[in-house]
Amino acid sequence: MKSNNENLEQYSDEEITQKYMEAGDILSKVREEVKNRVKKGESLLEVANQVEKTIVDLGGQPAFPCNISRNDEAAHATPSIDDDSVFDDDMVKLDMGVHVDGYIADSAVTVDLSGNNDLVKASEDALYAAIDVIKSGVNTAEIGSVIEDTITGYGFKPVVNLTGHGLDRYIAHASPSIPNRHVDQGVVLNEGDIIAIEPFATDGAGKIGNGPWAEIYSVIGKKSVRLPAARKLMKELEKYRTLPFAKRWLKSSANSIDFSLLQLEKAGAIRSYPVLKEIEGGLVSQAEHSVIVTEDGCDIITK
Ligand code: CO
Repeated sequence: MKSNNENLEQYSDEEITQKYMEAGDILSKVREEVKNRVKKGESLLEVANQVEKTIVDLGGQPAFPCNISRNDEAAHATPSIDDDSVFDDDMVKLDMGVHVDGYIADSAVTVDLSGNNDLVKASEDALYAAIDVIKSGVNTAEIGSVIEDTITGYGFKPVVNLTGHGLDRYIAHASPSIPNRHVDQGVVLNEGDIIAIEPFATDGAGKIGNGPWAEIYSVIGKKSVRLPAARKLMKELEKYRTLPFAKRWLKSSANSIDFSLLQLEKAGAIRSYPVLKEIEGGLVSQAEHSVIVTEDGCDIITK
C-alpha cells in the first residue's frame, strides 16, 4: 500500500539510520526490562500493556502489538482486551516492534519457565551464528544453512515455514525473506540493507499452521463497506497505516467490534493474523535481532 506513504516527510540516509538506531535502542531497553516480569502467575495482558506503554514513554511507537506466544504457539498471539491468562510453566516468546517515524526495529526473546533451556539456546545460538556470517555480499541461503545447522546440532528442528525478513518504512515484513533452513537459492544482501533475523527452534515437526483465533490485524487497502460501524472503524485504523494492530487497541465498543472487523476482512480491507501453532504441538523457542548490513559485517540495532 505505497500510496499510504506518499505524504510522509522524507529524510536523508543519515537521518534514517539515526531513526532505526533510536527505535532499536528503545526496543533493547524495553526487552531487557520485560524479561524480568515474565514469571509464573504474572498477567499476560499487564506485560503486553507495559511493553507498549514503555515504548511510547521512551519516544517510540509500537510497530505491532506485543506478541506473547507460549509453548506450541510460535507467533501472533497477543492478549485480548479482557484477557485473564497468567504465565504458567511456559516457554514464552516475546516478539516486539518499535518504530520511529515508520522506521522499525524488531526483536524477540524467549523466557523459559518450562525447564527446556537447551531449546532456548538453540534459537539464540542460531541467531548469533547467522549474525556472524552476515556482511555485504552474503547470500541469504548461507544464513539459512547456518541457522538450520546450529539448531539441528542441538537435536531440534528449525521451524521451516517461518522466516526472517527485510524492514521498510511502515512495513514490518518486507523482502527479502531470510530462510531458517537450507534453500537452493537465496538473494545477495548489500551494504545498508536492514533485516530482521529470527530463528525458531522446536522439538516438534518443524512446521507451523494457523490456529483458531486472531487478535492481530492490519489494513490492506481502502474498500467500500456499508456498515457505518465498519466505516468508522476503518477511519480509526488509518493511523496504523500498513502496520499490524491489536483488537484490544481499538476504541469501538467490544460488542460491534467483532462484526465490524469481520465485515472489513470480508471486504478485503483488512487481514487477520491467526495465532501460529507448531503442527505437532512441539515447544517453540525464538530469538530475533534487527541488523544493518555493513561492508564487512553488520550492526545489531536491537542490541
Ligand atoms: Co520479525
